[in-house]
Amino acid sequence: MSEAVVDGGAVRLRPWTDADIEDRARACDDPEIARYLPDLASPHTTDDARRWIAEGAPATWQAGGAAWAVVDPATDRLLGGASMLPVGPSRNHAAIGYWTAPWARRQGVAVAAARAVADWALRERGCVRLELLTAATNAASQRVALAAGFTREGVRRGAGTDRSGAQTDLTAFVRLAADSGDRVAPGLPDFPGGQLTDGRVVLRRLTLADADDVYALQSLPEVAKTNLGGPITPEHLRYRCERAESEWLAGARADCAILDAATGAFAGDIGLFYQEPFTRQALIGYGLRPEFRGRGMATSAARLISDWALEQAGIIRVCAGTFPYNEASRNVLRRAGFEQEAYLKAKLPGRDGGRIDDIQFVRIAEQYR
Ligand SMILES: CC(C)(COP(=O)(O)OP(=O)(O)OC[C@H]1O[C@@H](n2cnc3c(N)ncnc32)[C@H](O)[C@@H]1OP(=O)(O)O)[C@@H](O)C(=O)NCCC(=O)NCCS
Repeated sequence: MSEAVVDGGAVRLRPWTDADIEDRARACDDPEIARYLPDLASPHTTDDARRWIAEGAPATWQAGGAAWAVVDPATDRLLGGASMLPVGPSRNHAAIGYWTAPWARRQGVAVAAARAVADWALRERGCVRLELLTAATNAASQRVALAAGFTREGVRRGAGTDRSGAQTDLTAFVRLAADSGDRVAPGLPDFPGGQLTDGRVVLRRLTLADADDVYALQSLPEVAKTNLGGPITPEHLRYRCERAESEWLAGARADCAILDAATGAFAGDIGLFYQEPFTRQALIGYGLRPEFRGRGMATSAARLISDWALEQAGIIRVCAGTFPYNEASRNVLRRAGFEQEAYLKAKLPGRDGGRIDDIQFVRIAEQYR
């Protein structure tokens, strides 16, 4: 197959040349690329770059795929790489991939490249289905996928392999020829400016750096009792923190740290679980470290996250369940503007295998109150 040049507006896709060797070696010798593209040699030397340009890229074209240098159309300077490979027995399904050089990140290069590859594959190769597989923790790439018109399809458990050879989860995004190609909105919007605050607490998305604090909090017996989610182990909670941004983009949950606004200390966590997108109903759950209790912080957090849900995320009903013994949590909810709605017998699965009654509270969008 001849090696096409593709005009992608802000970027141009062109065949690799020897003039790219130094830049490719420098770009690919990068921790993010090493982490998310485990097939690329790391450290990445000029010999690795030369070999790819002489052998790897031509072999990709011969196999019916495409492998481009992504360059600045004005200067021809290397900005990244992009590729497309047929997948499966049918020749009209393909996978696409990309990376951006560290010096060109956060300028729209990957979105422009992904869009150019996708448009080209649909138009020139007659593809009907394009897939884009990202590490389940690679939120940056998932934002690229959405911005390039790909819809999140789901998690392929253990479908990837990391540099150590361990199996990893991949998140699949797909664009069909019949799709509009318009940017796909994330399932839940980001907090404006990345956080919510009322001067008493700050809420921001959980990240990997919070994993130890979250484990310590969730291990407290009184908090563990109210945690109906996955296992309370360092590994599970680490992965939950690492995937928080991906789960947010998926619209599954908004997992946040509650920080003391005065000191920035980790005071607790609060999560919004978007259980029923169809009926636009979500559930919140929260916990505070003992030394931060009794200061109105849980009330602030419940109010802030429910304000955001009702006013910015399009959610109509924010619910919160409380165990019958938990009057403290009911007081938090009343102060945060929730009202008691129902007593649901044996609604909740207990950690001991039994069932627990649930006294349910709700806050409803202003127009339906
Ligand atoms: C992921 C990667 C390709 C993004 O490249 P980029 O050129 O910086 O991306 P863009 O400037 O086009 O940004 C696209 C979106 O990603 C977001 N983004 C970029 N870097 C981000 C980061 N580190 N964290 C969160 N979001 C990020 C941008 O805000 C933008 O989102 P928006 O359109 O909703 O505002 C780049 O970081 C990279 O090369 N990473 C290592 C290799 C890799 O992961 N390749 C993809 C494998 S599937």
